[in-house]
Amino acid sequence: MTDDKKEFIPALGHDWLTGFYDLAIRFTMPERKFRNKLMDFLDPLDGEEILEFGFGTGQNLILANTKNGNANYIGLDIDPKVKNIAKKKFTKNDIEIQLDLYGGGVFPYPDNTYDKVFSSLVFHQLDKEAKISCLNEICRVLKPDGALLIGDWGKPKSRLMRGMFYSVQILDGFATTADNVKGLIPDFMVAAGFENVAEVGHVNTKIGSYCYYQGKKPSFCRV
Ligand SMILES: C[S@@+](CC[C@H](N)C(=O)[O-])C[C@H]1O[C@@H](n2cnc3c(N)ncnc32)[C@H](O)[C@@H]1O
Repeated sequence: MTDDKKEFIPALGHDWLTGFYDLAIRFTMPERKFRNKLMDFLDPLDGEEILEFGFGTGQNLILANTKNGNANYIGLDIDPKVKNIAKKKFTKNDIEIQLDLYGGGVFPYPDNTYDKVFSSLVFHQLDKEAKISCLNEICRVLKPDGALLIGDWGKPKSRLMRGMFYSVQILDGFATTADNVKGLIPDFMVAAGFENVAEVGHVNTKIGSYCYYQGKKPSFCRV
C-alpha cells in the first residue's frame, strides 16, 4: 500500500456478495459480447505495457492475455478479496500477470509507464472526487500518446435501459452512478486532460447500457 486506504464500493456493492460477482455478471449481461468488444477496442499489441484499472475477478486480463499473450499486462485494484479470486483463476489457467493493490490515492507507478490503460465497470463505483483523481492518475501513468479505454454504464439508450439500471443503482448507490446516467464520463476524461475523447460504442444489457469511451493522452502533456 502506498497511502491510507480509502473507502470503496466492492465489486457487487457489498463485501459479502463479492464471491457471487462472476455469477451475477453471467446472468445479467451478455458477458462474452461486452468483454470481447472491450478487447477489440483495447487491441493489445506485442510488447505493449497495459494496465487494467480495477481488475476485479480477473476476467478481462484473462481475455486480454488470450487475445495477445505478447503484451505485458498489470492489474490494479483496491480490494484484496478480488485479488485472491483473480489469483486463483490465473494459477488454474497457468497465467502470470502482476496484480497490485493500492489504497485508492496515488497509483504505485512512475509517470509515463503505460501504452494503454483500460477499465471496466469501475467508474460508476467512484464518487466524483475519486473519478477525477483516478483519471488524473491514469493520465499521469500513461505515456504521451497513450490510450485510455473505459467500459462502463453510460447514458441509457432507451427508457427500458433507464428502468433496468435502477437495479445497479440500488446495489451500488445513486450518488456514484448519477454522472454515468447523465453520460458525463467523457466530460471527466476531457477535464483530466485527455484528447480525442469519444463514446465509440455500447452494448445493451439486462441492467443498463454498457458504453465504451476512448481518449488519448496528449503528445505534449504537463506530466
Ligand atoms: C464492478 S467491479 C469490475 C471488475 C472488472 N473490471 C470487470 O469488468 O468485471 C469494480 C472493481 O473496481 C474496484 N474498485 C472500486 N473502487 C476502486 C478504486 N478506487 N480503485 C481501484 N479499484 C477500485 C473494485 O474493487 C472492483 O474490483
